[in-house]
Amino acid sequence: MSSDKVYIFDTTLRDGEQVPGSKLNTREKVEIAYALEELGVDVVEAGFPVSSPGDFEAVTEVSKALKNTIVCGLTRAVENDIEVAGKALKFAAQGRIHTGIGTSPQHIYNKLRSTPEEIIKRGVAAVKYARNFVGDVEFYAEDAGRTDNEFLAKVIREVIKAGATVVNIPDTTGYCLPQEYQEKIQYLNDNVEGIENVIISTHCHNDLGMATANSLAGVQGGARQVECTINGIGERAGNTALEEVVMAIKQQKLLNYHTSVKPVMLNSMSQLVSDRMNMVVQPNKAIVGANAFAHSSGIHQDGVLKNRDNYEIIDPASVGAGKSAFILTARSGRAALNFRAKKFGVDLELDDLNQLYNHFLIVADQVKEVTDDHLGQILSNYYGRTILRAI
Ligand code: KIV
Ligand code: ZN
Repeated sequence: MSSDKVYIFDTTLRDGEQVPGSKLNTREKVEIAYALEELGVDVVEAGFPVSSPGDFEAVTEVSKALKNTIVCGLTRAVENDIEVAGKALKFAAQGRIHTGIGTSPQHIYNKLRSTPEEIIKRGVAAVKYARNFVGDVEFYAEDAGRTDNEFLAKVIREVIKAGATVVNIPDTTGYCLPQEYQEKIQYLNDNVEGIENVIISTHCHNDLGMATANSLAGVQGGARQVECTINGIGERAGNTALEEVVMAIKQQKLLNYHTSVKPVMLNSMSQLVSDRMNMVVQPNKAIVGANAFAHSSGIHQDGVLKNRDNYEIIDPASVGAGKSAFILTARSGRAALNFRAKKFGVDLELDDLNQLYNHFLIVADQVKEVTDDHLGQILSNYYGRTILRAI
């Protein structure tokens, strides 16, 4: 497909929910699904309906709730899984079954105890069976990252002939390097008849910290759907982070792609998922971490105060993160101290600023961060009267 739109397939409610301790009930899944629809994702993978009665109910309720977004249910290449998913998706305005099977030698011989020929037969049968329930069937070649490209092309060719509308090429174990993954997608684009009639999807795990890079490389190789989760949550080291892919596509205009996601909702979406799934967002997480727009070293603070673009490539307000923050530590400089003192209604002359800075450093060397409380005390001591924060 030559369109420059990259479809965002969110699997927070399925792959994301596989994280121990993050299980959601139906009400929470519906709440997050509504928010994802509002955020502008194209597909919500709501769960794995055959896995439990609770997940069947959740996929059913999400299907009833969403009106403009494709609702997807995961299955193995097993008739009963597919039938159950078909039932759960019955009420969806747009339903998709996501079925598939392992294609790497590791999975074929050591997990499925099968043969390459049998795997193709099972994949084809699953896709054909799923087409009895929905018109939109996505096939995943599990562990495609470690699958030989020639065999992968053979599998993908056959499942497209069987009726797959989307073909997912997961790097299930987060094994690939970006160039390798890009070449894999490009190879399929160049060697599979009928591939121009379907969407190629990326699904990258983060075991080597390369999920986002691999997903973008996949897009450059010809993929037009990216599977991802809010905050990058998921099995082991997680999945591709939705917020990273969306913002990389937006900021790197050269790539010339776009998504339908509204960036301004990214931070509130991140907080909602973190809260409901009991998963703290690491402070240095790109786009949505508490420190993503915080500056604490003197050189950076001075640079940002002169011109935000010196050290920020994204306007924090554009992703719903408010304003840049200036954290005061022993590495901070006079510019940030002056800036923070203004919030106490104090306009410092150069002489005062220099003297106050020495007082500030004494406190800063003793604590991890100089808070507003500390600063109020430093200013009060310096001026010999109580100074409270004004704004
Ligand atoms: O990582 C993976 O391969 C998956 C598939 C089930 C799509 O999550
Ligand atoms: Zn996965």
